[in-house]
Amino acid sequence: MSGSEKLHAVTLEVNSARKTIVVEARKLLVHLIREDLGLTGTHVGCDTSQCGACTVEIDGRAVKSCTVLAVMADGASITTIEGLTRPGAELSPIQAAFHEHHALQCGFCTPGMVMSVRQLLNDQPDPSEQDIRHGLAGNICRCTGYHNIVRAVESLAPKGVQP
Ligand code: FES
Ligand code: FES
Repeated sequence: MSGSEKLHAVTLEVNSARKTIVVEARKLLVHLIREDLGLTGTHVGCDTSQCGACTVEIDGRAVKSCTVLAVMADGASITTIEGLTRPGAELSPIQAAFHEHHALQCGFCTPGMVMSVRQLLNDQPDPSEQDIRHGLAGNICRCTGYHNIVRAVESLAPKGVQP
């Protein structure tokens, strides 16, 4: 950072906890989440806004956090993958379905996938296979584990599980 770079205070509610962080204007939200808050479940998998590994919820909508400047999120409510469970608690329904259906290999894409599935099931509680594939089109799995990811989501949909 140059000595003349202006700093900005950003206040967020992150996983139900209020946080104020001082950042450079150019800092991306994904870097605030990982570097300043230590929430490293949100991943950076590309530098082209394509992979979806950085997906979090901003005010209840799934967003690629590498596409948002931290200062733009001032005042927002953010949920990251860490916000879906508490240490020692049971997995959330989507996480449990991924586990049960072997919907991950290396797991790098998984947090972003789970956040996108939450959005998908909120928007479409009973999606078809085509809906699921369309809903996850912004998330890349480099292990190409899509088949089991789709099966995991299908297992949730008919049960009306709240994500
Ligand atoms: S790191 Fe955000 S889309 Fe890849
Ligand atoms: S499980 Fe490896 S990138 Fe998706």
